[in-house]
Amino acid sequence: MTLIHEEQLKNFIDGKWEEPSSGKATAVINPATSETLVNVPLSAASDVEKATSAAKKAQKSWALVPAPQRAEVLYRVGSIMKERKERLSQLLTMENGKVIEEARGEVQEGIDMAFYMAGEGRRLFGQTTPSELKDKFAMSVRAPVGVVGIITPWNFPIAIATWKSFPAIVAGNAVVWKPATETPIMAYELAKIFEEAGLPKGVINVVFGSGSTVGEAMIEQDDIRVISFTGSNEVGRGIAAKCGQRLKKVSLEMGGKNGVIVMDDADLSLAVEGILWSAYGTSGQRCTACSRVMVHEKVKDELEERLQREIAKLSIGNGLDESIKVGPIINRAGLEKVKSYISVGKEEGAKLLTGGYIMENGDHKKGNYFAPTLFTDVKPDMRIAQEEIFGPVVSLIPVKSFEEAVEINNGVEFGLSSSIFTQNVNQVFAAQRDLDTGIVYVNAGTTGAEIHLPFGGTKGTGNGHRDSGVVALDVFTEWKAVYVDFSGKLQRAQIDVE
Ligand code: UN1
Repeated sequence: MTLIHEEQLKNFIDGKWEEPSSGKATAVINPATSETLVNVPLSAASDVEKATSAAKKAQKSWALVPAPQRAEVLYRVGSIMKERKERLSQLLTMENGKVIEEARGEVQEGIDMAFYMAGEGRRLFGQTTPSELKDKFAMSVRAPVGVVGIITPWNFPIAIATWKSFPAIVAGNAVVWKPATETPIMAYELAKIFEEAGLPKGVINVVFGSGSTVGEAMIEQDDIRVISFTGSNEVGRGIAAKCGQRLKKVSLEMGGKNGVIVMDDADLSLAVEGILWSAYGTSGQRCTACSRVMVHEKVKDELEERLQREIAKLSIGNGLDESIKVGPIINRAGLEKVKSYISVGKEEGAKLLTGGYIMENGDHKKGNYFAPTLFTDVKPDMRIAQEEIFGPVVSLIPVKSFEEAVEINNGVEFGLSSSIFTQNVNQVFAAQRDLDTGIVYVNAGTTGAEIHLPFGGTKGTGNGHRDSGVVALDVFTEWKAVYVDFSGKLQRAQIDVE
């Protein structure tokens, strides 16, 4: 089955498929096999400029289309995605490496977002409120910000694109989108779906290329009023600094160092399943992946033993094969980064229980495979317990109490997701209050956020904004306060109030 018909992808600007003005391109590699799938443009700043002007022009008329009609386009997008779910999932597995079951889950997340945000076309609620003056009406309405820039990562190339573009579009904005160069196929497919769904030309524009050229150029465009970014902390901080100087709104979704707490009364079978799924699923390449387990000392030995037993059963390989549970790491650089943390952990004195190596035998040689890894006797201040590894590496940290577990959980620079396994209702409620993360799970792993709730984190994970949920609209809208005086005379607020 040939899923990819093009040799070279093109940018999508003003409703037309265009070669980049730079004439440059780079190969997109399947991380499971190292085969080249397609070439992707490395666009120039002038392509961004062109996309921005197209977006600016298109946005004016798009904003005047009634929101329920804008939403109709998203309903069609959702339906086409649903029809194509299997094809999209296979392509996603090929370019990203995640196993097919997870790819289907990710595409479903996008479908859900389409229907959810389409529903917002008939809400987009503001508030009405009494005026302090007679015969005067007051309300607040959401107004589109204009042209928005979105920068999306390779680990959830379609879901995160929908989290950002769908609320932006339903709210009446136009979009300039830079997808990750590792995973452009999902962007290409989604742009084609928008085209087929009848989105007017220029409302979404896709410019492929590097962060240093395309991303930078987006920040420099005055007409792009918002940048919504998901990716690394280092890049996010740079974007925030530059956007701050330009008074450009910026929404950042970045790293995590997510922890699972396993208390002495936990259902250990459930805890093992939760840890395996959230730590080794997507090969640990989720912002929400579990990379630390704070385990009560009374159940430490048993948890270690059970985890090792289950890790040994994980099948690792090409995710297109339905029996595979763990796929490859996105690229060689990612693989080397994960590997480097193994020596860091050993030098710091952590005990390696299993894994810790690049898999190079048989078919594994063809791709970027890393053996699921478990360290124990990890101290909270070790680098492997503090830094985001973005791979299948878990650190077990023994604890003596609930309070100690919470303190360790919170003692990192990130605050995305956390979880607790316990049967104790008092600890459940204390945990949801005290865990300093944007997402808290009880008796489940750290992954699996649902699209109608806010997604994001505290501290170094972000800058106070959220993707997903109704609050995503706050990123892509301005609040406008409207006063209508129907008294027929000049009434002065704060003065004529007697
Ligand atoms: C991410 O890793 O950036 O909650 C997104 C989850 C998924 C989304 C992860 N729904 O794990």
